[in-house]
Amino acid sequence: MNLLFIGDIVGKPGRDVVTEHLPRLRQSLKLDAVIANGENAAGGFGLTRAIADELFGVGVDVISTGNHWADQREIYAMVETDDRILRPVNYPKGTPGKGANLYALPGGTLLVVNVMGRVFMDALDDPFAALEQELAACPLGEAADAIVVDVHAEATSEKMGMGHFCDGRASLVVGTHTHAPTADAQILPGGTAFQSDAGACADYDSVIGMDKAEPLRRFTTKLPGARYTPATGPATVCGVFQVTGSSNGLSA
Ligand SMILES: [Fe+2]
Ligand SMILES: [Fe+2]
Repeated sequence: MNLLFIGDIVGKPGRDVVTEHLPRLRQSLKLDAVIANGENAAGGFGLTRAIADELFGVGVDVISTGNHWADQREIYAMVETDDRILRPVNYPKGTPGKGANLYALPGGTLLVVNVMGRVFMDALDDPFAALEQELAACPLGEAADAIVVDVHAEATSEKMGMGHFCDGRASLVVGTHTHAPTADAQILPGGTAFQSDAGACADYDSVIGMDKAEPLRRFTTKLPGARYTPATGPATVCGVFQVTGSSNGLSA
């Protein structure tokens, strides 16, 4: 399958650049599936119904999220009723929605798992145990033609650990959350494609997609102040494209 994973879409500049380019990419790369991280799509904080529909309308099949998943309250109902929207799988029992789902797409069956790291982040349930459960329930090459894991985490060590943990059992393990694309794209020994961070769809003349002034002010003064707002200059589509083998869902 031809898979495109799009990194964190930040605010309107990120949405606009995805809207501008994704329909063409969907055609030219003959994409079977597009997964996009939408945790920052609504003004930098969370996701709304209208924005999710906008992204589905331009060719996104699945929206994953992260620590900002619940910033907009309307998502609580959305994740219960629309299985194309995922929140991290390792939130406590009773959290609305789910963190993994199997999609029957025209090009094949796709399992997407959205998991959140714990290093320098909120103390959630064990992400490795949660992922183990999802992978065991839906083996690659049997129940799923392709498996994509969005590792929403701060530490590259935890993301790399997750990549090797999944090696041979997932098509693609890709990091999100740090909003800076890493230059470590590789095929792991067992055939799983891996990159520590997909980067963000955002204006890169910024601090992780946000207008520079407020983060710099906070870093230099340590005083709380204005809200973060997405930087409004030209944005870039940033993500990972992978072609999986037809027989086993891995890369050669
Ligand atoms: Fe993000
Ligand atoms: Fe995040």
